[in-house]
Amino acid sequence: MKKLAMILATTLVAGLTAQSAFADQEVGAKLFIAKQCVTCHQAGGKGSGPFPKIAGRDAAFIQENFLNIQAGIRTKGMSSVMKANPGVQSVTKEDIANIADYLSHLK
Ligand code: HEC
Repeated sequence: MKKLAMILATTLVAGLTAQSAFADQEVGAKLFIAKQCVTCHQAGGKGSGPFPKIAGRDAAFIQENFLNIQAGIRTKGMSSVMKANPGVQSVTKEDIANIADYLSHLK
């Protein structure tokens, strides 16, 4: 029984690691539109006016800043406008990992 628990725990950890290590750019590209990022950050995340360019940024930077805005930890400037968006509110940690992977591979 103990052995089975060990195997299950190991499989679970391996599964989680694999998921974050292989974020999916294609899924990210679709989510970028479905979750309304495109409305403000423009096609391909190239930005416009008060909406910063997020294409080509580091994936870790994108994830951290996105999650901080979504959680209301980052409040400067127009962050609250982004936070209030229903698409933004519905993004999961897995979604943002995929979106960040997509954006970080753009120029
Ligand atoms: C309603 C408009 C709007 C939507 C929708 C939106 N954002 Fe933003 N986003 C902004 C604004 C405005 C800022 C700049 C906030 C500030 O003034 O600091 C920003 C900032 C960011 C930043 C930080 C950029 C930097 O240079 O610091 C990231 C990353 C980001 N958005 C990702 C996303 C992602 C991913 C989505 C879609 C899930 C999204 N945003 C949807 C308006 C939006």
